[in-house]
Amino acid sequence: MSATFPTSFLWGAATAAAQVEGAATEDGKGDSIWDAFAREPGAVAGGDTPAEGVDHYHRSAEDVALMRALGLGSYRFSTSWARVVPDGRRVNPAGLDFYSRLVDQLLEAEILPWLTLYHWDLPQALQEQGGWTDRETALRFADYAEAVHDRLGDRVQHWTTFNEPLCSALIGHVGGEHAPGWTDPVAGLAAVHHQHLAHGLAVRRLRELAGERAISVGITLNLTNAVPHDPDDPADLDAARRLDGLWNRLFLEPVLLGRYPEDVLADVEHLGLTDHVRPGDLETVAAPIDFLGVNHYHDDNVSGRPPAPGEPPSLRPTDRPGRSPFPGSEHLTFPSRGLPRTAMGWEVNPDGLRELLVRLGREYPGAPPLYVTENGSAWDDVVEDGAVHDTERVAYLHAHLDAVAQAITEGADVRGYFVWSLLDNFEWAWGYDKRFGIVHVDRATMARTPKDSALAYAAVIAAARADG
Ligand code: NOJ
Repeated sequence: MSATFPTSFLWGAATAAAQVEGAATEDGKGDSIWDAFAREPGAVAGGDTPAEGVDHYHRSAEDVALMRALGLGSYRFSTSWARVVPDGRRVNPAGLDFYSRLVDQLLEAEILPWLTLYHWDLPQALQEQGGWTDRETALRFADYAEAVHDRLGDRVQHWTTFNEPLCSALIGHVGGEHAPGWTDPVAGLAAVHHQHLAHGLAVRRLRELAGERAISVGITLNLTNAVPHDPDDPADLDAARRLDGLWNRLFLEPVLLGRYPEDVLADVEHLGLTDHVRPGDLETVAAPIDFLGVNHYHDDNVSGRPPAPGEPPSLRPTDRPGRSPFPGSEHLTFPSRGLPRTAMGWEVNPDGLRELLVRLGREYPGAPPLYVTENGSAWDDVVEDGAVHDTERVAYLHAHLDAVAQAITEGADVRGYFVWSLLDNFEWAWGYDKRFGIVHVDRATMARTPKDSALAYAAVIAAARADG
């Protein structure tokens, strides 16, 4: 690849607590909804659970050494709420010790800690009191943010409230594929609003706590380009509008503009979203943020027509047949348009990332700087003589980095890129079988082997630094 990047561009890799840590019952950690959900028969492929993760909890020193060897500038990780506040109310200092150690290891290696507070693992204790359908959970979230800040605020400057609220709210409560595994559109929209509120309350709390100390607070959304399958078909155009509404604007507009999109409100009117919105909520949700994290893996080619004969009802793998995560728009289908696909079945379309980043700047002119906080791909990797020649992942990485560079050239204010993921890990309902890491993890021994993509990424980072 020939792309060039600004000297200050941040090069990182990302993971999340429930996907990598393991140590699910150690040092006082309580169950998260993912621990409980994964124990339900049939919930996760192969019966896998987050219990062992990839043992990051015990191997953080080794993992940080790997990051240093790759030349990473930042590590995006999440704290586990169920480790920090196991019963949802009382702080567990032993749980915070792990993150304190990790942050020290990162700083020692000159790697910037990029901390996410919620990557889908609500304490099961709070789930039992209603979870995200209960407004109280938003208040508890701000207290949890405070507990983490109390311990790490002297060393961590970059804070992300939520990772992909769409997944935990809608795929978790409407599609049923994620914890807590519900299929209730009314609950899903309650969860959306309460997560928004939790975000706003936490932003405000973190700023108060930081006082004069510099702090950078943001949110990470998974955004897509909703492409109408047939741009001349009004049913497909409406499908694209609905998908863009539910997937992108339902999250972007409250956070950036302090309002819910009118057309989405009309589509979901019968599902009670506005019943949860109290006076002042939207001002809280729209508390100014310092960056917007963008996760992007693929676009969505969408149709409002039923699937063609022989075509599965949905090619969007986050939907299982008959289970749609789209409240009020369950009829959407995702016809194939013949692009290559990863092991997840996701289209490879790097230009979608360029388009998305440019479009965000154009459509939300007041938006804060962007960071690509996740992008990556799963492939059926094979270890050969101690190496993994993951040529598809290398090509995916290069093509997407080119797309980011091109977006910057076209005016998008993108300040950094985090590859998903540093390590092979627990890919939620898909279990450990889907490997996204640039570093291979042997599940029997937990041995780490950098794949060719890790070496390629390290080369890109080194070249970018040399250019600067
Ligand atoms: C987004 C999520 O944030 C992450 O947890 C997940 O593993 C990747 N997408 C890949 O599906």
